[in-house]
Amino acid sequence: MQIAVFSARPYDRRFLDEAAARAGLDAIERVYFDATLDVHTAPLAQGCTAVCVFVNDRLDATVLHTLHALGVRAVLLRCAGFNNIDMAVAGQLGLFVARVPAYSPEAVAEHALALVMTLNRQTHRAYNRVREGNFMLDGLLGRTLHGRTVGIVGTGKIGLATARIFHGMGCTVLGHDPYPAPAFAPLGTMVALDELLARADIISLHCPLTPQTRHLINRDSLARMKPGAMLVNTSRGALVDTHAVIEALKARQLGQLAIDVYEQESALFFQDLSGEIIDDDVFQRLMTFPNVLVTGHQGFFTAEALQEISAITLQNLADFTAGRDSPNRVAAA
Ligand code: NAI
Repeated sequence: MQIAVFSARPYDRRFLDEAAARAGLDAIERVYFDATLDVHTAPLAQGCTAVCVFVNDRLDATVLHTLHALGVRAVLLRCAGFNNIDMAVAGQLGLFVARVPAYSPEAVAEHALALVMTLNRQTHRAYNRVREGNFMLDGLLGRTLHGRTVGIVGTGKIGLATARIFHGMGCTVLGHDPYPAPAFAPLGTMVALDELLARADIISLHCPLTPQTRHLINRDSLARMKPGAMLVNTSRGALVDTHAVIEALKARQLGQLAIDVYEQESALFFQDLSGEIIDDDVFQRLMTFPNVLVTGHQGFFTAEALQEISAITLQNLADFTAGRDSPNRVAAA
């Protein structure tokens, strides 16, 4: 059996190969493609029974029909979110779709913390300053996080891990989730979204991208935030209306922005564009703000998480080939 692995970076190959060897699944031939899966690259899956994809691979109706016609019967997502696959069409075609629902939620939570700490204490600017022999502190003033209020939107696995961290740091933690987890109770208080927006000094997004959550952070919700608040998004780019965020930054309503995800990230992230002209003017405008910090979707990127992703992906494949149901199977829409 062959599987076509799209968006395969060197670390994907390394961790998948190691996991296959550990699981005794070396006989499954892995065909690695650097390219993202889209309408142009889908024919590369010719002869493969499964495709293995990541967050910016596009599995819309056309791509799914193409894959199915080529004989592909399974889609293995190397991620938790599945907003990039048309599940209604996948269901009609009878495709087996499985994801990695949890892999080191702490990895993403710790990255959210890294963004908050960096932006709050400006260590990214201090690093450059000190290397140039400038030891002035002007412009590096932060706030003591102990005692500040952190709002967690989405108290699932990653949101809970984030809540635990900020609770441990002595912050007041607020949560908002239509399906509150009992495990959140000892860490903070569940409130309505409006109350969270109004009270939080730091707002961290950990809900999935759905039609209901698209542009959850928009002109209205930004106006309801505490002036000068910090917004952190390590979940999915389209939770945030980037145009509205830029306006709120310019108006000094939004104090700081840290993002690991961006609505149009598929044209930018996971590529070296350092020698290119980036023609996304919205992204480039974001880059001009001193109070904006962007990382390129690296929240998941720890050795522990990559090991788990690879092992669970291969387990999903084994379930598919054995005709077993899988707890990681994504239900058809
Ligand atoms: P999860 O499914 O455990 O938790 C999501 C929570 O969001 C659930 O409790 C759900 O009830 C809640 N929710 C749904 N709609 C909501 C709404 N309108 N408002 C508030 N909460 C809402 O998911 P998990 O594992 O915690 O992941 C969260 C998100 O993090 C994923 O959907 C994914 O987009 C993102 N992610 C980002 C990574 C990165 O590298 N930056 C890596 C992994 C996940």
